[in-house]
Amino acid sequence: MEILDGKATSAAIKADLKVKVNEMVNAGHKAPHLVAILVGENPASKAYVGNKIKFCQEVGYRSTLLTFNADITEDQLHKEIHKLNNDPEVDGYIVQLPLPKHISEDKILEIVNPEKDVDGFHPVNVGKMVSGLPSYLPATPYGITKIMEHYGISAEGKFVVILGRSHIVGRPMSILLSQSRPYGNGTVVVCHSRTKNLEELTRKADILVAAIGIPQFVKAEMVKDGAVIIDVGINRIDDTTRTRGWRLVGDVDFDAVSEKASYITPVPGGVGPMTIAGLMLNCYHAAQKRV
Ligand code: GUN
Repeated sequence: MEILDGKATSAAIKADLKVKVNEMVNAGHKAPHLVAILVGENPASKAYVGNKIKFCQEVGYRSTLLTFNADITEDQLHKEIHKLNNDPEVDGYIVQLPLPKHISEDKILEIVNPEKDVDGFHPVNVGKMVSGLPSYLPATPYGITKIMEHYGISAEGKFVVILGRSHIVGRPMSILLSQSRPYGNGTVVVCHSRTKNLEELTRKADILVAAIGIPQFVKAEMVKDGAVIIDVGINRIDDTTRTRGWRLVGDVDFDAVSEKASYITPVPGGVGPMTIAGLMLNCYHAAQKRV
């Protein structure tokens, strides 16, 4: 079994981007500028956004964090987004999800300028992705294709099972891995809460992507010998042996499943850092459009 090391792969992407940003700046252009919008006090969202800003600083991007109280009105947030859409200094921006209940995420995602939509969530970018046209890819699926590329793992001719049909991970992942593109060409099945005989399907998977948000859901008996396991879950579970009282686990029972897998992503240190790398690649592509 080999660990798919997201931390190391992301570090390699970071080093490459650092060189490219240097070249950009030396050629007289401004460094890429990412803006992140954070609404409210969700601790996980705060941590994710903090990591995104840190990556920007390490790689030489300009970055701005805009924080708003959870009681910001939908109208006020729309105004902030229009400002970013019209600001030539901003190459790309993200609105960290989830948003408070009184704000419609769908409406927010629709008013983001697709040219600055480095999360790849705008319907225009989703449509382009589905059509196989150049677009910003959603960061997590993009990051997963990058870690597959790094380790030379292709879905070509493989039976791929994806657990979860979210707009952020499962659905776009199913499209990318079934498309005729490098590391794609897989035969993909998407499983969800209404799927019957789930284990029958997972046991056949050459590549299994778990993105359902249920801690340690995938057990060893659900996995084929030699399967490639991509664990997208980031779940906090109680752990009294830790001073902070919790630890992170994925959607896969790592210890048992790693005995059977050929490759597996750990949590933390697998897909998480690759998601940030995917976003940073998108942000670089956004900045490239003005140079
Ligand atoms: N919340 C969970 N994942 C993501 C992501 O990739 N982008 C944003 N904006 N919010 C998220």
